[in-house]
Amino acid sequence: MAEGKVRIFDTTLRDGEQVPGCKLNTGEKLMLALQLEELGVDIIEAGFPISSPGDFESVSQIAKAIKHTTVCGLSRAVQKDIEVAAAALKGAVRPRIHTGIGTSDYHIKSKFNSTREDILERAVQCVKWARNYTDDVEFYAEDAGRTDNDYLAMVIEAVIKAGATTVNIPDTTGYCLPYQYGEKIAYLVNNVPNIDKAFISCHCHNDLGLATANSIAGVIAGARQIECTINGLGERAGNTSLEEVVMILKQHKHLGLYTDIKTEQLNPLSRLVSDTMRMPVQPNKAIVGSNAFSHSSGIHQDGFLKDALTYEIINPEEVGADSSKIVLTARSGRSALAYRFQKLGFQFDRNDVDVLYKEFLNVADSKKEVEDSDLSRMATEYQQQTAIA
Ligand code: KIV
Ligand code: ZN
Repeated sequence: MAEGKVRIFDTTLRDGEQVPGCKLNTGEKLMLALQLEELGVDIIEAGFPISSPGDFESVSQIAKAIKHTTVCGLSRAVQKDIEVAAAALKGAVRPRIHTGIGTSDYHIKSKFNSTREDILERAVQCVKWARNYTDDVEFYAEDAGRTDNDYLAMVIEAVIKAGATTVNIPDTTGYCLPYQYGEKIAYLVNNVPNIDKAFISCHCHNDLGLATANSIAGVIAGARQIECTINGLGERAGNTSLEEVVMILKQHKHLGLYTDIKTEQLNPLSRLVSDTMRMPVQPNKAIVGSNAFSHSSGIHQDGFLKDALTYEIINPEEVGADSSKIVLTARSGRSALAYRFQKLGFQFDRNDVDVLYKEFLNVADSKKEVEDSDLSRMATEYQQQTAIA
């Protein structure tokens, strides 16, 4: 079995930027690329150079500025695309060309009006063209998720023979179930004779909410690269979320898999991407959502205050998030209320808290969240009343 390092291929600047409204200018792309290098990603997919002069310029500037991370440009299986990608990547310390073609019958028949034999030839040809410019060529078999495994294995064997060093198995439509995607990767591991000459990459979309689960199934089955984006941005329902796969591998050490991501940068970078792309993060998003470390129900708060591990599997500091929050709502209990009074400098015994809790519930029922200012007012009034009595 291959060693345990899983390469993180970040495509926030390519697949992520395809999201309507998320378009970035060259300066923004360059700034984010430098942050991605700091984060420790192994490959930055900087764009699709032939798609526009602006994207060519962005890839070109990123290629020159990045010091050690691989910089990748996307192309179709078209000679001109590959030439333009190579030109944009000039000056990169580690340039990679990502080229490929659709391999499912949907793509072969409806998109290309072609045959499996012709697509196989075009796949081999595009890898050979790309190898004229760099030794680092990644081939994508678009819609591999719905491609017949025997045919996929033939294509993958042929492109590796032609010089592909990474083979990307995209679940382009987010169709597969985790066990199916895992079996597909295992099928390639077991049936492509030269598979040891290339890394297998997972590129999973989130149409059924399974992108992260599928990518993890893929690496368990033998893939050693995951293509992902900050905040899970990407076409339609998005791509695999970088922060999720990285933390899953870190949490589940028994898998023997790891990444080189500096996890304490995950939350700051998530915010930067969200602000730069003007794309808010859903509050309940794993790892980087604003509620990811908030506890609001009484039962959870009580357990959390006794021992954080009862309700938290990740220490927020480990992912650069603000400390865990106890949010006071009408579902909160006495322990959380007593804890918050204590934090605000009020020492109350059990009987005091019982009395104050009734008043707290009245306030909590009238608003979504009880603020510290409400509590201070309640506590001060209570102290005044008890002093008079
Ligand atoms: O989803 C997909 O298949 C892609 C390829 C271009 C890699 O983004
Ligand atoms: Zn994609």
